[in-house]
Amino acid sequence: MTGPDAGTWVRVAALSQCVESGCVHAASAHGHEVVVIRWEDEIFALEDNCSHQDYPLSDGSVEDGQIECIFHGAKFDVRTGKATQLPAIKPVRTYPVRIDGDEIFIQLD
Ligand code: FES
Repeated sequence: MTGPDAGTWVRVAALSQCVESGCVHAASAHGHEVVVIRWEDEIFALEDNCSHQDYPLSDGSVEDGQIECIFHGAKFDVRTGKATQLPAIKPVRTYPVRIDGDEIFIQLD
């Protein structure tokens, strides 16, 4: 599926799989490991890999709009991917999200 803008849109989950705020859902999209997160009424998608030492963020939980890596406790803003707590310093990649009916799509390059 492609949109008018550049990049490929790939389905990563059903909206019904991520109904409650704080939902964390691991998905794979064309070789990209992605963590789909619902925070309040919005869906976000981040690279499912902590920038500290390569650990899946999808094992963690979300609080105050931040996902915590359970390995060493780093946190990332789910909206921007910015590291908000040490030991991570570098951000994680975020993906544009589009909802189409019950399907969640992310945009790859
Ligand atoms: S691997 Fe995530 S905080 Fe260390």
